[in-house]
Amino acid sequence: MFKTELCDKLGIEYPIIQGGMAWIATGELAAAVSNAGGLGVIGAGNAPGEVVQEEIRKAKELTDKPYGVNVMLLSPHVDDVVDVIYEEEVPVITTGAGNPGKYIERLKEVGTKVIPVVPSVALAKRMARFDVEAIIAEGTEAGGHIGELATMALIPQIADAVDLPVIAAGGIADGRGLAAALALGAVGVQIGTRFVCAEECTVHPNYKEAIINARDRDAIVTARSTGHPVRNLKNKLTRQIEKLEREGADKEKIEELGVDRLRVAAEEGDVEEGSVMAGQVAGMVNKEESAEEIIKSFIEEAEEVFKEKYQLINI
Ligand SMILES: Cc1cc2nc3c(=O)[nH]c(=O)nc-3n(C[C@H](O)[C@H](O)[C@H](O)COP(=O)(O)O)c2cc1C
Repeated sequence: MFKTELCDKLGIEYPIIQGGMAWIATGELAAAVSNAGGLGVIGAGNAPGEVVQEEIRKAKELTDKPYGVNVMLLSPHVDDVVDVIYEEEVPVITTGAGNPGKYIERLKEVGTKVIPVVPSVALAKRMARFDVEAIIAEGTEAGGHIGELATMALIPQIADAVDLPVIAAGGIADGRGLAAALALGAVGVQIGTRFVCAEECTVHPNYKEAIINARDRDAIVTARSTGHPVRNLKNKLTRQIEKLEREGADKEKIEELGVDRLRVAAEEGDVEEGSVMAGQVAGMVNKEESAEEIIKSFIEEAEEVFKEKYQLINI
């Protein structure tokens, strides 16, 4: 048994949330993670409402456990996506890139729990003013769009600043990371990069292979100069972006180069021209496994840390 407050809150067995990843976290992956006792999350990204609805229905067919949808609040389709979430009575949403405040009251009507993702204490405090269930604090080690603070420094500061359960994200890929997150004051973890390599993840095989082959320093940050930094694996695209940044190119030119690149990597499997978003833990992900195996190993390793290393029992 490895339960925390988060398990009761969300009706899940283990305190593990699978990060909602645009173009990657489909209904299949979310259902597999939920069936394994975590919370699977569909990544809505910039997809239109009907596409998100299809993924939700897929997940519902494959699991009767709670699942979630990650809503990108800057998406041009955000209002339609929220309508779909309302209609489908989605149990949980995680939100990024903005303020979910205006949607919360309506979603409460159908029982949807809202969990914002934040990279700083200031944003955590702002989100805590709304009726949200918990806060996901995401450190700069994470894959995808990132903030500045490292998970190690961010989690305790957010845990101290808000009276809400905190979920740690970024740089966690095994049970040692889960144990560390709990020690820092979190009640659970959100995992992205490792779940990309889950067997049930429908991303192009080249994407999984790129993560499996990656080493510790391969997940680098590009586009810092635009104010929207992204962590992705070194490749032809990152070298092009770095060159433009060195030359002091306009923000618009750099942003233009990044358009649609996650799809190119995730769907087409072009891991040189596409953006292979992945976190610093890419070097720790060495094989493809089922979602169940991933979750099981997280829990067994974390129990080992608590029981054997610190001789704590009855967790
Ligand atoms: C390929 C990829 C795509 C992602 N897309 C999103 C997204 O669309 N929305 C979001 O809130 N977070 C996104 N993230 C962040 C994850 O949800 C999660 O917080 C992060 O991956 C955790 O850090 P880790 O990669 O070290 O496990 C993405 C991460 C990856 C690796």
